[in-house]
Amino acid sequence: MTKTILRVLAGEAVWPPPMWLMRQAGRYLPEYRALRAEAGDFLKLCLNPALAAEITLQPLRRFGMDGAILFSDLPIVSWALGQDLRYAEGEGPVLTPIRDHAGLDRLDVGRVAEAVAPVWETVRRVRAELGDATLIGFTGGAFTVACYMVEGHGSREFAAARGMAYADPALFGRLIDTIVEGNLVYLRGQADAGAEALMLFDSWAGMLPPDEFRRWVIAPTARIAAALRESHPDIPLIGFPRLAGMLLGEYAEQTGVQAVAMDTSMDPAAAARLVPAHIALQGNLDPLALLAGGAPMIEGAKRITGALRGRPHIFNLGHGIVKETPPEHVAALVAAVRGG
Ligand code: CP3
Repeated sequence: MTKTILRVLAGEAVWPPPMWLMRQAGRYLPEYRALRAEAGDFLKLCLNPALAAEITLQPLRRFGMDGAILFSDLPIVSWALGQDLRYAEGEGPVLTPIRDHAGLDRLDVGRVAEAVAPVWETVRRVRAELGDATLIGFTGGAFTVACYMVEGHGSREFAAARGMAYADPALFGRLIDTIVEGNLVYLRGQADAGAEALMLFDSWAGMLPPDEFRRWVIAPTARIAAALRESHPDIPLIGFPRLAGMLLGEYAEQTGVQAVAMDTSMDPAAAARLVPAHIALQGNLDPLALLAGGAPMIEGAKRITGALRGRPHIFNLGHGIVKETPPEHVAALVAAVRGG
């Protein structure tokens, strides 16, 4: 096995660490903005295999990243289950909120495969052109997807979603179960189409108190990981329980993921103590240090790679690239990490 990211996900410490960046395909790249303008609508872009494959490959062509993250979006699974999804200009996803059993009754796992078929075709096309890089498929963690499905849009608090989890855990649990089922269809299809690793973005996991975190983040992630082990034993899974803090160790031990992605707030040395040594760590430079460039970026990157030297580590950001980031900063970061 030569692909460096796959070696790290198998538990090997590689130096210098392989790297890719969350949101490496996106608006900070002029070549992305050009294709985005051509497609018009963002959802159409996600469902256009020719354009989505090209966008996935853009950062690899420009920077020679070790990993390609599939170009798609987190609420695609909600849309595939039957929820209305649109992208308001300059905003994130907007969905028709689901607040009761009647809303849930309208979702149907049976329609996911047909709906996401274009994304699977994107995976096939990227894989055919990929070379030595590793293709990482993804979806949202069940809790984070549920946040968007209940709230209907992005939010700082996701009060409706978290409120539902307390007031009617049976209803919220039914939604989580539906998302787990939808995610499994979606992820298995990505693996069958050629994705070599899979990632679960649980961006809002850190809002939950410990018991809720165990119930709505660890438990559904463990179910997905176990089901994938059965059907696709060779495909590693990366979990990103953003802002999990001290619960990162419990998440790593109990979910069955092969790697955990650290958010910006995590001390890599502390993460290395919390997480069992055979589980890889990914992350976690502050995207704002990348935006700033220069010494804060280079020194920040070296602190992280130095702290994790000898551990299986994939260098990345602690959250997505911000759109104002100059592409030259990304090139300088790649050179610095590759320089060891
Ligand atoms: O390189 C990549 O990572 C590209 C693939 C990708 C996108 N979104 C493309 C995208 C991935 C892996 C995501 C994940 C995603 N989407 C998450 C989890 C990671 C995180 O950032 O916490 C979440 C929460 C979403 C939901 C979402 N989609 C939001 C909140 C937004 C608006 C904010 C923003 O950054 O633009 C989107 C839109 C989106 N997803 C864009 C892209 C390139 C911008 C859309 C545009 O071009 O207009």
